[in-house]
Amino acid sequence: MLDRIVKYLKIFYIVLLSIPSRLFFGNIISFKLNLSSLLNHSNNFFFKKTNNQIYEKGYKNIKYNLNPSLIEKIVYEYNKLIDNPNFYSITPNLKKKFLLDPVEKIPNLKKLIENIKDELDNYYTQDFIIKQVRAFRNYSDESINWNREKYIYSNLWHNDHYIPSKLKVFILLNNNINKDTGCTSLINKKDSAKLIRTFKFIHTLLVTRKFDQYVEKKKLIKYCEGDAGDIFIVNTQQCLHAASIPIEGVHRDMVVFEIYPTKKNFGKLFDLEKDHTVNGYLRQN
Ligand SMILES: [Fe+2]
Repeated sequence: MLDRIVKYLKIFYIVLLSIPSRLFFGNIISFKLNLSSLLNHSNNFFFKKTNNQIYEKGYKNIKYNLNPSLIEKIVYEYNKLIDNPNFYSITPNLKKKFLLDPVEKIPNLKKLIENIKDELDNYYTQDFIIKQVRAFRNYSDESINWNREKYIYSNLWHNDHYIPSKLKVFILLNNNINKDTGCTSLINKKDSAKLIRTFKFIHTLLVTRKFDQYVEKKKLIKYCEGDAGDIFIVNTQQCLHAASIPIEGVHRDMVVFEIYPTKKNFGKLFDLEKDHTVNGYLRQN
């Protein structure tokens, strides 16, 4: 009982703190991050960019357009490595498995940037840098049909909490990814801001099936469906999003690039940081 009271008090406190960002910026990242981004000219994310879908909608879907043998090779190498216990870590609930140091193991992953480099140049209008690459597999879970899914791997609606100009690039590693097989779902920037400003979306831990049904009925959900190599560039601070749990017997594989604007990248697009979260799971199991 006391645990529940503490949990709801914490949520209440977080929601209270989020009010200025909700009202002024239509998101729930910290007001300080929003403000510093607004004031920082070298990273002026709030400056109006015309004719740019990522800026306007908060996301863009791009079809794979490089050599088909490149993505086939990547998928082949990934599948070989992801089941080898020497090369992966897995979350304590055993529902999400990460390939350790994916770019070291599969250097071809770097070539995928060719498919989106122009798009990112156009969005940032300044240099950018990729600081993290994750390759992972999501598994099914029994709670998929429950009244409320368990929170197993970002599968409930949420926003990410980073600087507002950060982008995530999701690249599919399986064919036939759809809502049954575990695609990401997202709500565009404008509709997310509306849901946040009107408190229709309050907090991830308060999301119910009723909210799912509401956004479904209003046709607000964009399902990130596609085949291996297909890409979704998403501003996950501005777009509410959720991973879907694949149906039983199915898994979903994906690579994610995490991208930040930078003053000067000196022609080097990748400057990867040690992934403490993914490596941390090694010690927990
Ligand atoms: Fe997220």
